[in-house]
Amino acid sequence: MLTIDIIKAKQLKDKPDPNNLGFGNYFTDHMFVMDYQEGMGWHNPRVKPYEDLHLDPSAVVFHYGQEMFEGLKAYRRQDGEINLFRPDMNGKRLNNTNDRICMPQIPVEDFVQAVRTLVHTDASWVPEEAGTSLYIRPFVIATEPTLMVNPSKSYLFMIILSPVGAYYKEGLNPVRIYVEDTYVRASKGGVGEAKTGGSYGASMIAQKNAKNEGFAQVLWLDAIEHRYVEEVGTMNIFFKIRGKVYTPALSGSILPGITRDSVISLLKSWDIPIYEERISMDTIIEASKNGDLEEVFGTGTAAVISPVGGIHFKGLDFVVHNNEIGPITRRIYDTLTGMQYGNVKDDFGWIETIEDKNDHGWL
Ligand code: COI
Repeated sequence: MLTIDIIKAKQLKDKPDPNNLGFGNYFTDHMFVMDYQEGMGWHNPRVKPYEDLHLDPSAVVFHYGQEMFEGLKAYRRQDGEINLFRPDMNGKRLNNTNDRICMPQIPVEDFVQAVRTLVHTDASWVPEEAGTSLYIRPFVIATEPTLMVNPSKSYLFMIILSPVGAYYKEGLNPVRIYVEDTYVRASKGGVGEAKTGGSYGASMIAQKNAKNEGFAQVLWLDAIEHRYVEEVGTMNIFFKIRGKVYTPALSGSILPGITRDSVISLLKSWDIPIYEERISMDTIIEASKNGDLEEVFGTGTAAVISPVGGIHFKGLDFVVHNNEIGPITRRIYDTLTGMQYGNVKDDFGWIETIEDKNDHGWL
């Protein structure tokens, strides 16, 4: 268990309009910081006022991208308390990423304690408007001042918080996605299953091109044959074909989404057939042409459950479910968000509640 110092901000920020948050535009009054030094391990965990960092320009993170991040959310319940959704899963995934890019492990219980302590400190920032939440962004950066290409000997683990609305401007309306067949996101043996910032930086050119053409996101294909579906820019992807649901198997180049895992468990509990396997674009196009492609949706912490209404592949457009949200997509959305906001019973043990007795409200 960590002993976390709490240094309160002297001046609190004005809060933004909770009906107009967008995603990742505002940050709360405090942040969590913990230092790592080789020989000392993790030390000095603290919650302190949100402020700029002071780093040496030669810090490893700036040159060789030794960095990782996580994403989870805190949800305001109707009774005023706050829910977290499976924070231990983020802690486990953080450690898998850290292993991959040679950064030190953080005990999962310390990770969860840090998240809980920071959210509790900034509890008044958890918005209550429909569809809003407090996005939690833990991240680790390599801080050793050196230009040697070696794992850093020092790190910062930090958590920042951002009150958010929908990730996509479409909200729960279906998005159109562009199947990228030139650039690739990840290959086996690479860092596709790790949550490292470099993967997202490398994906931006395809995302930018897709956006310029009016698409919300890119659907990535496998790096070798450019044929098998992997994931969408900020979410995992599911296809419902003739009553069965398919999602790409975790092959090493796909991010193991926590929402993805939860959706698979929900579908199983409803006895809806769900298959994790390799899915080719040929299968998707054929199903679409035959009228068998019933629903497509993405899953992610930021994106929640996002219906896909159109797929653009090699110059052709395929419309899904009349560009409307399908019944399974709707049921998953209602159940998952219902659990997260405390309106649907959680039979899975996914929800952790943070008491918010001292909440002074948004203003
Ligand atoms: C999340 O859903 O938390 C993500 O990591 C997506 C993010 C890159 C916006």
